[in-house]
Amino acid sequence: MDFLILILNVFFLSFSLVSAVSFTEFVYPNFTASNLRHVDASGSFLFSSNGTFKAAIFNPGSQQIRFYLCVIHVESNTVIWSANRDSPVSKSGTMTLSGNGISITEEGGSLRWSTPPFQSLVSALRLTETGNLVLLDRYNATLWESFRNPTDTIVIGQELRAETVLLSAVSNDDLSVGNYGLALTLSDATLLWKNLTYWKLSMETKAYVNSGYAVEFLAVNQTGLYLFGRNGSAVVIKVNLPLSEFRTAKIDASGQFIISSFFGVAQRHEFVWPIDACQIPFVCGKIGLCTNGVSVNSPACSCPSGFRLSASNNSTNCLPVDDDNKGLNSSRLSFVQLDYGVDYFANDFTLPTNYGVDLSQCRDLCSQDCSCLGIFHENTSGSCYKLENVLGSLISRSTTRNNRLGFIKTVIRASPTDFGVLSNDEAGFPVIAVVLPLSGFLFLFAIAILLWRRYSLEEKVKKKKQSFKNSLSDLEFTIPGLPLHFDYEELQTATENFKTKIGTGGFGTVYKGKLPDKTPVAVKRITNIGAQGKKDFCTEIAVIGNIHHVNLVKLKGYCAQRRQWLLVYEYMNRGSLDRTLFGPGPVLEWAERVEIAIGAARGLAYLHSGCERKIIHCDVKPENILLHDRLQAKISDFGLSKLLTREQSSLFTTMRGTRGYLAPEWLTSSAVSEKTDVYSFGMVLLELVSGRKNCGLVTKSHSRGGNSGSSSVCSSSAGAIYFPFYALEMHEQGRYLELVDPRLRGRVTSEDAEKLVRLGLCCVHEEPGLRPTMVSVVGMLEGEVALCNPRIESLNFLRFYGRRFAEDSVMEETKNNGAMVFPDAAAAAANVSDNSTRNATHRYLSYISSQQISGPR
Ligand SMILES: *[C@@H]1O[C@H](CO)[C@@H](O)[C@H](O)[C@H]1NC(C)=O
Ligand SMILES: *[C@@H]1O[C@H](CO)[C@@H](O)[C@H](O)[C@H]1NC(C)=O
Ligand SMILES: *[C@@H]1O[C@H](CO)[C@@H](O)[C@H](O)[C@H]1NC(C)=O
Ligand SMILES: *[C@@H]1O[C@H](CO)[C@@H](O)[C@H](O)[C@H]1NC(C)=O
Ligand SMILES: *[C@@H]1O[C@H](CO)[C@@H](O)[C@H](O)[C@H]1NC(C)=O
Ligand SMILES: *[C@@H]1O[C@H](CO)[C@@H](O)[C@H](O)[C@H]1NC(C)=O
Ligand SMILES: *[C@@H]1O[C@H](CO)[C@@H](O)[C@H](O)[C@H]1NC(C)=O
Ligand SMILES: *[C@@H]1O[C@H](CO)[C@@H](O)[C@H](O)[C@H]1NC(C)=O
Ligand SMILES: *[C@@H]1O[C@H](CO)[C@@H](O)[C@H](O)[C@H]1NC(C)=O
Ligand SMILES: *[C@@H]1O[C@H](CO)[C@@H](O)[C@H](O)[C@H]1NC(C)=O
Repeated sequence: MDFLILILNVFFLSFSLVSAVSFTEFVYPNFTASNLRHVDASGSFLFSSNGTFKAAIFNPGSQQIRFYLCVIHVESNTVIWSANRDSPVSKSGTMTLSGNGISITEEGGSLRWSTPPFQSLVSALRLTETGNLVLLDRYNATLWESFRNPTDTIVIGQELRAETVLLSAVSNDDLSVGNYGLALTLSDATLLWKNLTYWKLSMETKAYVNSGYAVEFLAVNQTGLYLFGRNGSAVVIKVNLPLSEFRTAKIDASGQFIISSFFGVAQRHEFVWPIDACQIPFVCGKIGLCTNGVSVNSPACSCPSGFRLSASNNSTNCLPVDDDNKGLNSSRLSFVQLDYGVDYFANDFTLPTNYGVDLSQCRDLCSQDCSCLGIFHENTSGSCYKLENVLGSLISRSTTRNNRLGFIKTVIRASPTDFGVLSNDEAGFPVIAVVLPLSGFLFLFAIAILLWRRYSLEEKVKKKKQSFKNSLSDLEFTIPGLPLHFDYEELQTATENFKTKIGTGGFGTVYKGKLPDKTPVAVKRITNIGAQGKKDFCTEIAVIGNIHHVNLVKLKGYCAQRRQWLLVYEYMNRGSLDRTLFGPGPVLEWAERVEIAIGAARGLAYLHSGCERKIIHCDVKPENILLHDRLQAKISDFGLSKLLTREQSSLFTTMRGTRGYLAPEWLTSSAVSEKTDVYSFGMVLLELVSGRKNCGLVTKSHSRGGNSGSSSVCSSSAGAIYFPFYALEMHEQGRYLELVDPRLRGRVTSEDAEKLVRLGLCCVHEEPGLRPTMVSVVGMLEGEVALCNPRIESLNFLRFYGRRFAEDSVMEETKNNGAMVFPDAAAAAANVSDNSTRNATHRYLSYISSQQISGPR
């Protein structure tokens, strides 16, 4: 008993210690609140002057794990705003008001949310009688206010500006961002699901459209809902509402826009839009068929004919009926026809993608488009609607207004052995496939398998923010070996809005990202895409995605949405070869360089001869050779050159850093073949030998050539050497060690160096036919094939390049302060007589501008 009293004493003692008073209207820095500290008031620490609203660290619903800094309407206990909706804290998480603003930290100090930085110090936090949480500076000027940063609700006195969006919560007790939104357009207020419109205010019978002014903001007051025009206060659209002192307009977790009035704890829904619940995009899950029951507010869900309910528990998604006996080829897509009268929520809000096409043309349009998941076709007008990227629920209409006939694109698995991995993995799960770009024989493998997840809609939505896998499950494709389709938003999240740039290539910029399962990835945002754009893109990624080789960077996924083309690659933790080879840091040992050369050669050999279709890389260079743990080399960017038109590709190769690796035939419009890659690989080999860029500048230590003007090689302090030419000279003299990276001297034998130099020179023969194939390059590197002998007559062009380069380099700044010195190089260059270069003049010389052959990037 004593013990119990002791415990109670301790309890009350500590309770009175942590329990704190609540404040009215203002709190001042340095102030701290937590649910635990204000536990006797359910976390409330600040009330507005008349007590209408309060601010609290609050856990909505009955759960005890997610606490938010909220503004709450006291009488009805309605949350009207939350600060950290996507980063809840635990019961002991704290909110701190300091001179810098509000910050919310988890127990232990990790920051979960904060207000943006301000110019001046915060001197007070005020909660107004309208429910606005305001940060004031010492002149009482507003630095920040919750009304300008709405979550899913607006109240009387608040304005929803055109540039802001209300985003639904996932559920009533999980306030994180869900899938539905309310946004203003120039003339209307619209509801959106994954950027698809599903409702417009102007089409409501209760809405009065007053004027054609451009909309500036939406507001509710005691007598109505209004869209105000930009011009003064002209009302663009109004909806009259019964008089009420407290009312909210909220985009509900259900997807409906609800205006409610509160009378004490009683709540009255004054308006619920869309009135027809079947018009809510995901009301019945994916492909679920929504039928209005007795009232429009009690929709019934079923699967359309030809589909059945997903066998996974709690899933409302529907799947095509598995139809083995049709013996469909697994690579053949089909369109499952929906019944007459079945419509789709988005059809009324989007324009047809094509007009005047017949059904089979409409299907073809969809077949060729990897992001197309289904179609609706209007027989009478020949309109074709493509359902792209996401699929929501279907609507069963008793009256078929427009005779739209719908089809869902599927491929039904024919032979279980084809996708054995899948069926073992998820035993008992039905599997359907969605065909990616289909364009003839090339895409036999371009099959995307739909793996229906076990998640219920709710679970799915709950985890949306954390796990994009779930939102992928909305979307469908999980394909063994084939790339995943990503939503643009997912990649935005994965890369923290393209924050960390890790490279720039010929096709665009590469960003580091992290998938929700923590897998690091490299996301390439393609900018130089041909006008053909999307179709080619889809075609190519299907091909690229099918290529798997240990020396090729794996394509994990893609996104082709809203004119954005993104590729998601495996992340290579050691970066690209150029950084390791040319950059500071530990020097690459010879054996490592040989390993890298072999790896890269194997990758290219596979591209040239190992795949179903020969793939010419067209842009082989150290930047495109990526290194993984233990310096495993992998080729990146393969398969992309197809996306470019000829003009674009020559543009990109000349403009974007391939200069030093460009085979002569690129400049002469003659046929580009896999030997073009061999040339570039040869250039890379030579760079591996020297440890510097072929076109780099070298600081001269000796001045044998001097400034005398006898050579054009040197500017006053820097010598510019076209290394391949120097390599040719040294090869002729048998002085291979001269060519080796000075940092490795003493650790490389002449035989080692000779092997790579000779092979490198063979690869850069001007006559493509004289260059070895990549397969024999691999053989030579591995020592299984006899080493080739460089043919001088096909290498003389290097002398010309060397001279042009040297001339140009006089004008170049010395970019390289490195101590890498090739004492004989300048002299060798200087020895090139005018005669020899004239003799080496080639047919294509007139095409070559100095820019094209010289200049490090
Ligand atoms: C708040 O704390 C900071 C540092 O802890 C201090 O510099 C500042 O003077 C304090 N402000 C007030 C109003 O006490
Ligand atoms: C607060 O309440 C008092 C008395 O009930 C009232 O006169 C006053 O107008 C109210 N203030 C606000 C801002 O609502
Ligand atoms: C700021 O507002 C408070 C409360 O309304 C008032 O007491 C104070 O004098 C004001 N300060 C200034 C600088 O206006
Ligand atoms: C949503 O789609 C519209 C076209 O329907 C487009 O203009 C807009 O940029 C998209 N919004 C976002 C956030 O991508
Ligand atoms: C609500 O706003 C409208 C439009 O500005 C205005 O005409 C009306 O008088 C307002 N109602 C109240 C109660 O203030
Ligand atoms: C409002 O629009 C009218 C014409 O549409 C224009 O004459 C007037 O200047 C505008 N007023 C403001 C405040 O922009
Ligand atoms: C669904 O849940 C039941 C229990 O409620 C369980 O026995 C069954 O194995 C589950 N099925 C799947 C596919 O998860
Ligand atoms: C199905 O969902 C309900 C609530 O939505 C949940 O209580 C139940 O555990 C779920 N069952 C399974 C097997 O996931
Ligand atoms: C399977 O594909 C082959 C060749 O594409 C075709 O000849 C055959 O008819 C197809 N079988 C079925 C059942 O569609
Ligand atoms: C509509 O489809 C039917 C077959 O379902 C066809 O006979 C008819 O010609 C079509 N009408 C038009 C205008 O294409």
